[in-house]
Amino acid sequence: MTTAVGIDIGGTGIKGAIVDLESGKLLSDRIKLPTPTGGEPDDIVATVVEIITQLGVEPGVPVGVCFPAVVLHGTTMSAANVSQKWIGLEAEALFEKALGRDIHFVNDADAAGYAEVRYGAAKGVDGLVILTTLGTGIGSAIIYNGVLVPNSELGHLEIDGKDAEKKASFAAKERSRLSYERWAKRLQKYYSHVEALFSPDLLIVGGGVSKSYEEFLPLLSLRAPIVPAVLRNNAGILGAAALAVPQGDKSVTVPQASVAVDSPGTKPKAAL
Ligand code: BGC
Repeated sequence: MTTAVGIDIGGTGIKGAIVDLESGKLLSDRIKLPTPTGGEPDDIVATVVEIITQLGVEPGVPVGVCFPAVVLHGTTMSAANVSQKWIGLEAEALFEKALGRDIHFVNDADAAGYAEVRYGAAKGVDGLVILTTLGTGIGSAIIYNGVLVPNSELGHLEIDGKDAEKKASFAAKERSRLSYERWAKRLQKYYSHVEALFSPDLLIVGGGVSKSYEEFLPLLSLRAPIVPAVLRNNAGILGAAALAVPQGDKSVTVPQASVAVDSPGTKPKAAL
């Protein structure tokens, strides 16, 4: 069994669990703590340390962490819905110092999309899969034949001179008190634009509202099939954990949740 830990940092909660990477099932309880008010880096790092401690993660078990920003070589490059202090911060190194272990650090929607391809709605689907998460913002993941193209940020496409997520996210629906029908008109415009640019083979819609997909997905008319995510609240955890271990890397295979990685200090190279 290959195990890893996934941590999903969001605007309201930070979740973590130990994952079986072959089945995509959680091997531990899912621990969720509230995101500290203000979302300051040191407070979020302390919360992640608390979750890893509560999970009782053994040394050497790979840890993947996902975060709602562009992540370039471990540095957070944007902060659309989090504290501005994250911009230009060497976040991966900050977590590693506090945790005393290597981590793999990725964008939250990239993690969710990768999880859906590996374990969920796009399992076995070839070609171009685009996942979007509809939440406070709009996150996106582009995956071609199982390979993730990171940091696509399709939530920030400019449509009619406006940042798309400001009009079409779930938060925008709530802010403007839109019915599902009126929100679906905005979604139609958004997904038609995405489809015109990328011609995906499959569109997946994630985020908390995807559990109510029957209210809005049937109202959309697109060439590609558009389906709800199936991993729901666990997608970020599963994807972050899976991306922390390169597929086919047998050096991280262990009988239980305790792991002996190849050699101390050696960081597994992941898919991005
Ligand atoms: C951010 C993305 C993130 C998405 C969902 C957007 O505002 O720019 O990096 O993936 O929200 O959390």
